[in-house]
Amino acid sequence: GATQADPRTYPPFRPIEPTGADTLTLPERYRFQVVAPWGEVFTEGGREIGFNHDYVGFFPIDLLEGGSSSTDALLTINHEYVNALFVGGNTKERTREQIDAEMKAVGVSVVRVRREGGGWKIVPDPRNRRIDALTEIELTGPARGSAAVKGATTVRGTVGNCSGGQTPWGTLLTCEENVDGYTKAWAGSGYEAMHQGWVTEIDPFDPAWTPRKRTGMGRFRHENAAVTVAKDGRVVVYMGDDMQDSCIYKFISRGKYAPGNRAANRDLLADGDLYVANFGNGSWVLLDYDRNKKLQEARGSDGKALFGGQADVLADARASALAVGGTPVDRPEDIEIHPRTGEVYASLTNNSKHGNYFGQIIKFREHGDDWTAQTFLWDVFAVGGPQSGFASPDNLVFDPYGNLWMVTDNSDLSSNPTKAFHGNNAMFFFPTEGPNRGRAYRFAVGPVDAEMTGPVFSPDGRTLFVSIQHPGEDSESLDKLRSNFAAKPGSNVPRPTLVAIEGFPGWVKA
Ligand code: FEO
Ligand code: CA
Ligand code: CA
Ligand code: CA
Repeated sequence: GATQADPRTYPPFRPIEPTGADTLTLPERYRFQVVAPWGEVFTEGGREIGFNHDYVGFFPIDLLEGGSSSTDALLTINHEYVNALFVGGNTKERTREQIDAEMKAVGVSVVRVRREGGGWKIVPDPRNRRIDALTEIELTGPARGSAAVKGATTVRGTVGNCSGGQTPWGTLLTCEENVDGYTKAWAGSGYEAMHQGWVTEIDPFDPAWTPRKRTGMGRFRHENAAVTVAKDGRVVVYMGDDMQDSCIYKFISRGKYAPGNRAANRDLLADGDLYVANFGNGSWVLLDYDRNKKLQEARGSDGKALFGGQADVLADARASALAVGGTPVDRPEDIEIHPRTGEVYASLTNNSKHGNYFGQIIKFREHGDDWTAQTFLWDVFAVGGPQSGFASPDNLVFDPYGNLWMVTDNSDLSSNPTKAFHGNNAMFFFPTEGPNRGRAYRFAVGPVDAEMTGPVFSPDGRTLFVSIQHPGEDSESLDKLRSNFAAKPGSNVPRPTLVAIEGFPGWVKA
C-alpha cells in the first residue's frame, strides 16, 4: 500500500498557495539561484545569453563517455522570442539595428554550468555558443531542395524555439513554434518563413556539426519533441502543433538506434514516417503522399489539388493532417512519456474558441505497449479549473518515479477567467498512481507576468532547472515596470533567466 514516504504517491514538499508576488515562491526548505540571465556574456567571443528562455536540455558533461554527472553539464536553453521594450529598446520603428538585436537574442544557447561551492555557475568552455536567427542550418529529409522551401538546401537561423527534446545519442531537438510574425517584423532581413517551423537538431558536444532541420517531421507550430526508442530499435518522436484546433503527431525513424554509433544515430531523424493522431478511433494516420490516397485526392475550395508531393504534405502538415482525418484538439503543448508505464501524456492547454479556458492533461497508451503501434487508447488524466487549482497546462516533465511536474501558462488568454483562483503562473506536482493520482499540488509560483518553462531535473534529482520566461512582459514602458525579477545590480529591468531550484531529497529507491 501507499505510504506518505512513498515517493510515487506523495509530493516531497509542503504545497504552497497561489500568490501574485514578484518572485519565485517555493515551499519551505527549497531555494533558488539565478544561473544564466539574459545578457550575461558566456562565450570567448563575447556572445550573450539570449532572451525569453524556454526549454532546457541537460546534457551531463561526461555523457558521451557513458557518464551521468549531476554537477557538471552542457545546458541548452531555447530563447523563444523577444520583447522590443527590453531587447533593442526601439518599440516604435523596425530599424536595422533593432532587427539585428532581435535576431541575435533568439535561438539557442549552449552553456556549460557546474555546481561548486554550494551553487551553480557558468564556466568557460569551447562548446559554449549561440545558435541564433543567422546561424547556417542544413535542411534534411523530403522537403530539402523542394519548391515548398524555395529550393533551399541550407537556410539561415532557427526561431520560435519553444520546447524541445533530447535524443538518446546526446543531441538537442529544438522546436520552432511561432514563426509567422517575423515575415513582417524582420522584413528586409531576408527572413523566410518556409525555412522555419521545423524541428532542428543541434549537437551541443560538437560545434563543428552543422545543425539540421528535420523536414520529415513536418512543418507546423512545433511545440515539443518527446523522444523514445521502440522495442525494435526505431526512434519514435511525439510532437504537438500548438494552435487552436490542431493535431498531435508522431514520427518513426526508418533506421534503428545503434548504441555507441553516434555518427550513424545523428542521421536517424533524416528519414522516417510521419503520422497524425485520430482520437475518434484511436489510430495513427500516415502522412505519406505516395502511400495515402487521401493526400493525392485532397482538393482546396478552388478544386485544385492541395498537394503535389511529399514535400508539400510536410510543409503544410496541418492541412495534410486535417485532410486525412487527424483530430483537431485544444492546443497541444508539451508531451512526455511516463518512465514506468510508457504512456504518453499531453497538455491540451486551452481553447478560448470552445470556451475551454482551463485545459486538461490527457494520456494515451499504444497498442501492445509498442510506440510504433498504429492504434492506441486514450483517457483524461487531469482537468484544469477552480476545483483542481491549475489552469492552462504547458510544459511537463516526469521524475523517475513517474510523478508528473507541470508548469502553467495563462498568459495569452485575452479575457482571463483563471486569475480568480490561480495567481501567477505556477508549477504543479501530480502523482500518477495511488490514492492521489491526478491530484495537483502547487510547488512553485513565478514572478509577475512570467511563465515558468522548460523544467528539467539533474540526473540525481537534487536540482531542478527551470526558465523564468517574460517577467514583466506586460509593462507599458521602462518607467512603469511590472516586475524587477533578476534585475542586474543597480538596475530595475527584469531579466528572463534560467534558475536552479534546490532542496529536493534526490531520488531514493522507491
Ligand atoms: Fe511556446 Fe506553445 O508554447
Ligand atoms: Ca509552451
Ligand atoms: Ca517537457
Ligand atoms: Ca503556452
